[in-house]
Amino acid sequence: MQNQTNIPQMGFGTYGRQGDAGIAALLVALETGYRHFDTAQDYDTETEVGEAIKRSGLKRSDVFVTTKISTHNLGPGQLIPSLERSLDTLQLDQLDLTLIHWPSPNGAVPLEVYIEQLAEAHALGLTKLVGVSNFTIALLEQAKASMGDVPISNNQVELNPLLQNKRLATHCKNEGISVTCYLPIARGVLGDVPIIRDLAIKYHATPEQIALAFEFAKGYIAIPTSGRAERIRANFEAIKLSLSVEDIAAIESVDCGQRAINPDWGPNWD
Ligand SMILES: NC(=O)c1ccc[n+]([C@@H]2O[C@H](COP(=O)([O-])OP(=O)(O)OC[C@H]3O[C@@H](n4cnc5c(N)ncnc54)[C@H](OP(=O)(O)O)[C@@H]3O)[C@@H](O)[C@H]2O)c1
Repeated sequence: MQNQTNIPQMGFGTYGRQGDAGIAALLVALETGYRHFDTAQDYDTETEVGEAIKRSGLKRSDVFVTTKISTHNLGPGQLIPSLERSLDTLQLDQLDLTLIHWPSPNGAVPLEVYIEQLAEAHALGLTKLVGVSNFTIALLEQAKASMGDVPISNNQVELNPLLQNKRLATHCKNEGISVTCYLPIARGVLGDVPIIRDLAIKYHATPEQIALAFEFAKGYIAIPTSGRAERIRANFEAIKLSLSVEDIAAIESVDCGQRAINPDWGPNWD
């Protein structure tokens, strides 16, 4: 399943997937069929992602790899060298997607400084697509103005049934920006939500599969992670699950704006 920017809708998050256990989980994901991997300079998992892809024997073109630029690498002259180091660590020649991980905390680095470097990285061919993460509507508008001709392909944000980010998601849709959901399964707490639990029983599915199927039905990309093989496989099965229009509407009703990742230096959310 791919969206309009050819980003596979089902991705595998790599936060916490470090060392030999991390490589083992990544290999299970690759064997299961995941073809989209989400890493970041700050996760310390670029080595593991590169190693697992190499060991899988898959062609480079069969796998979609995203990394994210750390807030420590946004200053003048810093972004491109940091992306070159990421490519070395990943053992790749080019990223599929490079995101600004967070807007510069408290605006310490002006937005145009790092957005212009991101556009330059694209022009140099270091990455096929570029985008942002944790960007609000106002920040997306500023980024668009600084990006020149290079489209913002993606905004990766916290999004799951408990935090549906409807205003932001609608804005992204209208602007042709694909949305990637991080914490797409709300770190395993959705079994406590009665409507989700009832739907899981109805569809003979897990609460996490219900959440992922909802996100796919909305046209989003999702990047769940797990260190456990059975969960890696179970989460992947969600791509086969089709929810009725009524059940999608029922899941829309559980949105309560519950945000898990909210640093005090983060942006003023929509
Ligand atoms: N852009 C950003 O600022 C940002 C922020 C946070 C995350 N991310 C990205 O998003 C990815 C996903 O976010 P996340 O890892 O924080 O949250 P998540 O994918 O929503 O949840 C992962 C957690 O849920 C558990 N889990 C996985 N499958 C499960 C299942 N089927 N049933 C019950 N529990 C299950 C896992 O534990 P076990 O390992 O024990 O299974 C893990 O603790 C990250 O890996 C990262 O790539 C991006």
